[in-house]
Amino acid sequence: MTDTLTLRSPDDWHLHLRDGAMLRAVAPETARHFARAIIMPNLVPPVVTGAQAAAYRERILAALPDGTSFQPLMTLYLTEDTNPDDLAKAHADGLIMAVKLYPAGATTNSASGVADFDKVRPVLERMAEIGCPLCVHGEVVDSDVDIFDREAVFIDRVLDPIRRATPDLRVVMEHITTKQGVDYAAEGGASLGATITTHHLVINRNHILAGGIKPHYYCLPVAKREEHRLALRKAATSGDPSYFLGTDSAPHTDANKLLPCGCAGCFTATNTLSILAEVFEQDNALDKLEAFTSLNGPRFYGLPANTDTITLTKGDPVKYPDQIETTDGPVTVFDPMMPLHWRVTT
Ligand code: NCD
Ligand code: ZN
Repeated sequence: MTDTLTLRSPDDWHLHLRDGAMLRAVAPETARHFARAIIMPNLVPPVVTGAQAAAYRERILAALPDGTSFQPLMTLYLTEDTNPDDLAKAHADGLIMAVKLYPAGATTNSASGVADFDKVRPVLERMAEIGCPLCVHGEVVDSDVDIFDREAVFIDRVLDPIRRATPDLRVVMEHITTKQGVDYAAEGGASLGATITTHHLVINRNHILAGGIKPHYYCLPVAKREEHRLALRKAATSGDPSYFLGTDSAPHTDANKLLPCGCAGCFTATNTLSILAEVFEQDNALDKLEAFTSLNGPRFYGLPANTDTITLTKGDPVKYPDQIETTDGPVTVFDPMMPLHWRVTT
């Protein structure tokens, strides 16, 4: 029986670190295990210029414990006013790795996102030219579309037309939650990738809604039916280079989650690797874990895989905190509803 597992150091290709007190509390949780992460730009106000991305990067580095080697890979928040020249300069200067498209109104702090996709066409064309990837929150916001259908409809109405119009654009479908997302990513070739979160491998929509409402399982895109969770498990554990880990670890204080209109987001940074090892072991795919956490992402982004490694060891159930403290109040750690036996030992 395998009881240790050594992997190239993992990267997180979709992470929310926030700012201020929250940043200081959550950045060490990711930096403990991950070498690099794509940092989401949905701050208030959002990160829209290269200078803002550079300043945010400095704040992240300052929030890490001394001696931590963690590389934040910065993104810009795409708006209808994004200037293609500014974006190209930030990319050429190495200040940003990618650009994030939020449909306006789709999720936390997305009000400055894109409502009219035609307006960003020149920016997308420029990004295709310079090889800057577009990370896409793939949900329509039309009130006549059921929230559980928003991803599948986005693929047909928005994503596929964009990719046909701009075939050289490199696109990451962020946090896919449906079989349709899995299938579309599989057919997209080398210019299309998809991140999958830890929590969407574990929960389906029953976990949010059956037997009482569970705000800590509410995130966007919202978890779907069991058949979709199973499709995500199959994709993540397949080794297929189209799929890589983007935890979408999205901390909110409990005070902001446990409200009549609570925030969307699951905080998984603390126990992500233990959960993933458990999931991959359940699916007899521990040999594919490294591809998902450490190889497929860098390959898509054209970066070398990390050369250092981490080791996970199997043993008694792992103890991790139910909550982490911030000076703004506690943040609940995602509960995978199962004992976790794999702990990161080095
Ligand atoms: C994210 C957040 O809180 O910033 N929330 C979430 O439910 N995933 C935003 C996002 O990635 O959609
Ligand atoms: Zn996110």
